Amino acid sequence: MRRFAADRARRAVAASIRAAARSAVPSAPAAPAPPSPAAAAAMASAMVRAMSTAAAGAAPVSLDNINPKVLKCEYAVRGEIVTHAQNLQQELQKNPESLPFDEILYCNIGNPQSLGQQPVTFFREVLSLCDHPALLDKSETHALYSSDAIERAWQILDKIPGRATGAYSHSQGIKGLRDEIAAGIAARDGFHASGDNIFLTDGASPAVHMMMQLLIRSEKDGILCPIPQYPLYSASIALHGGSLVPYFLDEETGWGLEVDELKKQLEESQSKGITVRALVVINPGNPTGQVLAEENQKKIVEFCKNEELVLLADEVYQENIYVEDKQFHSFKKIARSMGYTDDDLPLVSFQSVSKGYYGECGKRGGYMEVTGFSADVREQIYKVASVNLCSNVSGQILASLIMNPPKVNIVCAQSIINWNNDGNNLHVYFFHRLGMNPTNPSW
Ligand SMILES: Cc1ncc(COP(=O)(O)O)c(C=O)c1O
Repeated sequence: MRRFAADRARRAVAASIRAAARSAVPSAPAAPAPPSPAAAAAMASAMVRAMSTAAAGAAPVSLDNINPKVLKCEYAVRGEIVTHAQNLQQELQKNPESLPFDEILYCNIGNPQSLGQQPVTFFREVLSLCDHPALLDKSETHALYSSDAIERAWQILDKIPGRATGAYSHSQGIKGLRDEIAAGIAARDGFHASGDNIFLTDGASPAVHMMMQLLIRSEKDGILCPIPQYPLYSASIALHGGSLVPYFLDEETGWGLEVDELKKQLEESQSKGITVRALVVINPGNPTGQVLAEENQKKIVEFCKNEELVLLADEVYQENIYVEDKQFHSFKKIARSMGYTDDDLPLVSFQSVSKGYYGECGKRGGYMEVTGFSADVREQIYKVASVNLCSNVSGQILASLIMNPPKVNIVCAQSIINWNNDGNNLHVYFFHRLGMNPTNPSW
């Protein structure tokens, strides 16, 4: 491609020199005299014009000259199979009889509302009232919306400067909403949480990118990642020019995470000159679905403490546990229960509105709780956050709602009806997706 463009440029320059020479010296004798200064200048400018015209023929940006880190980055979730599915979908639209099926369900990514899951009424009521506060002054609103949703919308609007969801917010997110989230975390874990440690983001993905950007200095910096993994991690490490240090989950033990395996991979990468900066743990796991036991989590915390690693805890599936004998424990709760404080261990927990029973992926909301970093490093994280100005305010509101859903014992009758309906609908939906009959739970 490059050679082709260069040849074209050379030919164009040669042609333009001939043309310039012809026009500058109209009656050229057999042995031409050197061109006058004016003619030479005309030739030179013709050459420059010709060269730039030739160069314009070639795209100034090509795969040869874009950032190689972008080329290296692979994101299978939106890769070849999805492209194939999209092609099949187009084929189906053109000719519905051409394939032995009439619908394509995209299961390459957890996107439940695209497959028919209905949003939770309370969340949507609050969001719509916050976005259009004029509704709060209308009498009809009290017939249409539950009184809890109306009350929560007022509470949230009071936390938003100017009650304006269309305004940029603080780059870390609206302070009152961060405090709400911190209260939700504290209630979940039984340990203190601070709104100052919460960074609201457009889903968990940008939060992960921010941490990779902070930690990775060069390809000599490594991040320990589970295999199998959710490809956000490999993609983000590649984009930021670091090295993925794999550790393998053990299928035989229900996709267990063995600390011996972590040590082995850490030492192996250190022997190759890699400085491992962080350990990514996805708990509950994707794609493996494992839920780590408390004892196992303690060993992981101890490992990070001893090896001076940042623990990057992807906890976006904390509400997606479908077995009775397993329970979610946040890594922060585990670390605090071991007596470790903010001074002992840098720990980041990622949460998202995309997962859980809410599945609000398109709303792009989430947060990271950043603990155990010095004030000056946190300032740098804040600086990186502020380059994006702020995350979207609806996503921020939703993140505060998922961490503080209505409490069954204090909600109004309408909310209970909505909540139960939503719960039943989700229940039926999940059973349906699993191919089971929800009215016959004999499975
Ligand atoms: C483990 C894991 N982490 C993070 C994400 C990203 O979620 P978000 O939509 O919040 O960016 C996903 C999405 O599927 C995921 O599976």
